[in-house]
Formats: sequence, structure tokens, C-alpha cells
Amino acid sequence: MQGLFDIMEPPETVQLRRRSPIGRELRIAEELHKQAQIAGNALLGALRENRPLPLQRFEDLSAEMAECSLRNPSALSYCTQSYSEDVYTHSMGTGALMILVASHLRMSEDQICQAGTAGLLHDIGNFHISAELLNKPGTLTPEEFRVVAQHAMHGYRLLAQADYLPPTEVRDSIRHHHERLDGSGYPDHLEEGDIPPITRMVAIADAYDALTRNRPFHKALASPKALAVLRQSAQGRYDRALLESFAECIGPFPSGSLVRLASHRLAVIVEQRHEEQRAPLVDAFYDIATQRPTLIETIDLAEQPNERIVAMESAADWDFNLGFQLRKSATFH
Ligand SMILES: [Fe+2]
Ligand SMILES: [Fe+2]
Repeated sequence: MQGLFDIMEPPETVQLRRRSPIGRELRIAEELHKQAQIAGNALLGALRENRPLPLQRFEDLSAEMAECSLRNPSALSYCTQSYSEDVYTHSMGTGALMILVASHLRMSEDQICQAGTAGLLHDIGNFHISAELLNKPGTLTPEEFRVVAQHAMHGYRLLAQADYLPPTEVRDSIRHHHERLDGSGYPDHLEEGDIPPITRMVAIADAYDALTRNRPFHKALASPKALAVLRQSAQGRYDRALLESFAECIGPFPSGSLVRLASHRLAVIVEQRHEEQRAPLVDAFYDIATQRPTLIETIDLAEQPNERIVAMESAADWDFNLGFQLRKSATFH
């Protein structure tokens, strides 16, 4: 069977090429999203049947995601936004954010791939925690929190059953992604100097992805609100400089997010261009006055002086399925 790498150009030519068209990359990113779900299910199956855990697949996936993001970073970001609510989407989202930020920070190809793998695997220990507890609406009791917090060590121990040993950076991230710089995290109460850079990145990407996603215990926040929450709690907990690089990389209008236009329509961001950060390519699809979907209209805001974004919106405040809309819009390109 032809793999994704077979339809891509060799990595060494990627940096030299013009940005790949968004439609083509959206199809590849969507396929990667499906592959991540399949890999997640295979991991769960192996765990139940006490077989070696197929973790190597996640490193391969991370490399493929990194290639996709090099050709057009918007596609990967788009496909991880509220696309679905399944258990594996948060890990795929965190992995994608890690790749985007690591590329933004001009890390080496190896480090970008490790960053992605760390994001994809950071919560594997959750397979040991009951779904009922992980999805409990409302606040956890101290005892429930103690059980949930064990996922970090569970994940680290699972590595002994894996089909390959991930690099140190990935192993550290699985064990330490809930450590905080002021020592208030878990499981080892590490402090600033003891928390490696990739693990600090996972802590930020993990929290941002969780805040921007609908969960049984909270509604998804729009990107600027999620960043504001992180900045507020950054004091002494998250790496401040890294958080600012993260915010710079995410940009004002992340691809796949929902916005309100001056023409009183809702639109999804399809492609964010770094040279025109405030004027992305959008798909308008919903009339606010009539509260009805419209035919999709693709608008390049850089070329439409009378149209502009007036606000970021949270899909949780609207009565439609954003995941369905995103998929519809993706196939439109
Ligand atoms: Fe976690
Ligand atoms: Fe997480």
C-alpha cells in the first residue's frame, strides 16, 4: 500500500519549495489525524491483550506530521481543532502544537520529531485511568485527583512494555508534563532547573489544547482567552519566555478556529499566512442575523478591504457542530 511518504517529496527539498496549496495539505493532515486514531486504538488493544505496545508508530506519525507542517503549517493546525471529540484527539492536538512550536523555534529536524512524539504520547498513562473518572463533570475530590495524577507515572512505566525505547526527551515528557517550575506539579515535584525544555513545551501545549477543547467539565475557550488563562497562571509555573514564543507561533487567528466577520457572518480560519497574520484566508458559512448556514464563501481577507475579523468565537456558544463544518469546509478546497 502506498504510504504518505510515497506521495510526498523528499524532505531535503521541502524547505526550498513554495508553500504547498492548503487543499492538498488538508487532505494529508486529515489522513494523519485518522492514522493517529488508528495508532491510539492499536495501543489500547495491545494494552488489553498484554502484547508489546506499538509506540514506534507514533514516532513515524510525528515525522509525517512534521513534513506536513513544513509544507503548510495551517493544515495540521486546522485538522486538530474540534475536529472530533474522541479520546485521541487531545494527544494529536498536543502533538501538532509541539511540532508547530518546535518548527517556529527553529529546532533541528530530530528535535521537531521528538517534540511531536512527546505530544502524541504524553498521556498514554490515561489508558490506566477509568474513562468515567477522566470525563467526570465538575471538580475532582482529593482522592480522585490522586488517582488521575497517577497517569504520569503509569505512562512512564508503560514504556517498559513498548516495542521500542523512545528518546530521553519523550520519556521525560511522559513522566514530567505535569511538573511546574515552582515545584507545585507532580509526580516528582521537580523545580525549574530540573525540567527539560521539551517537557516545558509539552506542559504549555497540553494545557492550551485542553483549554481550547470541549470537555465534560468545561466549554472550549477561544484561543486568546486560553492564552490569557495561561499567562495568568504562568507566574512561576510555566516557562514565561516559552509561553510567549508559543503565543507568537499560534498567531492571532489559529487555523481551524471560529471567527465573527464585519459582515455579521461566522467563518472558519482556513489558512493563516505569517506575512499577513491579521488577514487570513477564511470560509464564511453562517449568517448570524438569520442563524442559518449559508453556502461556503472563501474570502482572502488580505484582498477584501471591506471585510475583516471583528471577534474570535467559541463554537461552544453556537448551536452547530463545528467539527462537521470544518470537514465540509476542508473538502471544499
Ligand atoms: Fe497529562
Ligand atoms: Fe494531556
